[in-house]
Amino acid sequence: MTHQLKEALNYSLNIIEQNINTLTYFPERCENGVWVTAEEKRIPSHWVDGFWTGLLWLAAVHTQDSNFETAARAWTQKLAWLKHTTDTHDLGFIFYLSNVLGYRITGDESLLPDALTAVETFTQRYNPRGEYMQAWGHIDGPPHERGRINVDLMMNMPFFFWASARTGNIKYGQIASRHARTSRHTLMRPDGSIAQVADFNPDTGVFLRQETHQGLSHNTCWSRGLGWALYGFAEAYRWTGSELFLYTARQTAAYAIANAPQDKVPFWDYNSLDIPNTYRDSSAAAVIAAGLLELEAGETDATLAARWRAEAEAITLSLWQNYSTRETGIPAILLKGSRSVPHNWMEHPLIYGDYYFVETLVRLLRPDLESTLFPRQVLHVG
Ligand code: GLY
Repeated sequence: MTHQLKEALNYSLNIIEQNINTLTYFPERCENGVWVTAEEKRIPSHWVDGFWTGLLWLAAVHTQDSNFETAARAWTQKLAWLKHTTDTHDLGFIFYLSNVLGYRITGDESLLPDALTAVETFTQRYNPRGEYMQAWGHIDGPPHERGRINVDLMMNMPFFFWASARTGNIKYGQIASRHARTSRHTLMRPDGSIAQVADFNPDTGVFLRQETHQGLSHNTCWSRGLGWALYGFAEAYRWTGSELFLYTARQTAAYAIANAPQDKVPFWDYNSLDIPNTYRDSSAAAVIAAGLLELEAGETDATLAARWRAEAEAITLSLWQNYSTRETGIPAILLKGSRSVPHNWMEHPLIYGDYYFVETLVRLLRPDLESTLFPRQVLHVG
């Protein structure tokens, strides 16, 4: 197995190197063998930009090749303009995998001011009445926008936890901890599945209903969203020590394992009526594998820890054996991602699938980098 995982990482590094030489914009999905950028004018579309910088930083630390670091710094610098925007709920995805990851790898403090400005900007999306971060839309938008969260936001919470640890200002960690608690209570279901979206009355903070955006329906389970929940709650546990978050991450992990198809790569929604004749989402599998390793790192039960790791390895091996772009000439790593089936965007390589695949490979193969890349500390956020 290790031999195949090493082969997968080497292959991925070659693809990343090739893309340094050809990309002139942040990649989002591959169409007809060409990377397509996020829509330039829509700020929320830039949620993917940190995955390309994240790949470059991981390549840099693994290889110690200065070409990767030079590229990682240059592309990270291109994200600075986003630090003042209040129009996206994904500043965490963007800055955690660029400036914060770069700082962890290099110790270069010049990478910090942009990240700390971004995190302060990001706090403006917090609704203290409902104790949640607003998902899509403007912060002064209509009630249906101001009253909406999604499970994707859980992956933005580590940026807040990190900022508290870095600055000593507990307010960032409190926002993240409260949002995670609200997400646990409104998005999770007893069987370990999740709803993508929850709606609130933004003026009273009262929870109204579960909904979806990229899943089949309000009462089904969108597979990448399950991955966001698994990874997000697992990391929230390691920053807070809250048993509620550990329990939640375990529930999502157990759901993912129990409901995985034979090759371990889920369909786009676990409850799609068309299974098995519908679309896979390789990016969901990659996020789930990465989340399982984050859960393993904080797991207090040795038997469960071994289970999470074995599953992460099995998923990653299947992605490499059954979903890689080998011998296709496509300048991405994984085939068959589903950005959003309800919007008719599927069957593409996706930059976030590639990022979490490589993160998992590095984490499996380079335990010596664990404390550099994935440091956590328990904050006393209440
Ligand atoms: N966070 C957006 C998505 O997962 O598609």
